[in-house]
Amino acid sequence: MRVAMMALAAGAMVAIAGVAVAQAPSVGDAVKLRQANMKQMGGAMKTLADMVKSGTVDKAAGTEAAKRIDGHAQSLLTWYPVGSGPETGLETKAKPEIWARQDDFKKAADGLKAETAKLQLAVGSGDAAKLGAQVQAIGKACGTCHEQFRSK
Ligand code: HEC
Repeated sequence: MRVAMMALAAGAMVAIAGVAVAQAPSVGDAVKLRQANMKQMGGAMKTLADMVKSGTVDKAAGTEAAKRIDGHAQSLLTWYPVGSGPETGLETKAKPEIWARQDDFKKAADGLKAETAKLQLAVGSGDAAKLGAQVQAIGKACGTCHEQFRSK
């Protein structure tokens, strides 16, 4: 109790002094961030899939989409801090298995990274068929994780 009061007081003092404190993000922020990032990956995948369908690779827009997907793939594992699962009571489709089977979750994330690393090259080729094959491989890697770790 006493410790809690002191912590509160210290927090209030910091707030009054207006000092910027680096705080660990809340689990709510983590859930929102990963859902927003996943959505961005979905949007970028659609951008690329549309190019494949049209048969014309727009290298500028394609590069932007590829960078977004690969960048997110690199940081994906940091979006799931311990304690940010369904036990939060928040709206999340992250299954508890993410934390119970960390090795498999990491494997799924690594599988995505291995494919997104080749995406920029496929965009750069300007070849819609090549890009299509890579987009498909990435889509499979997304699905491999969703099947195991995202609830319906
Ligand atoms: C390593 C596991 C993993 C990989 C790889 C992965 N996802 Fe996800 N994805 C998840 C989990 C878990 C959720 C549920 C997150 C939540 O609700 O908190 C999710 C949610 C989503 C959502 C829904 C977001 C929302 O709430 O609106 C989309 C869209 C999505 N992923 C797209 C993708 C795409 C596209 C890829 C591949 C480029 C991908 N994901 C790769 C685990 C993964």
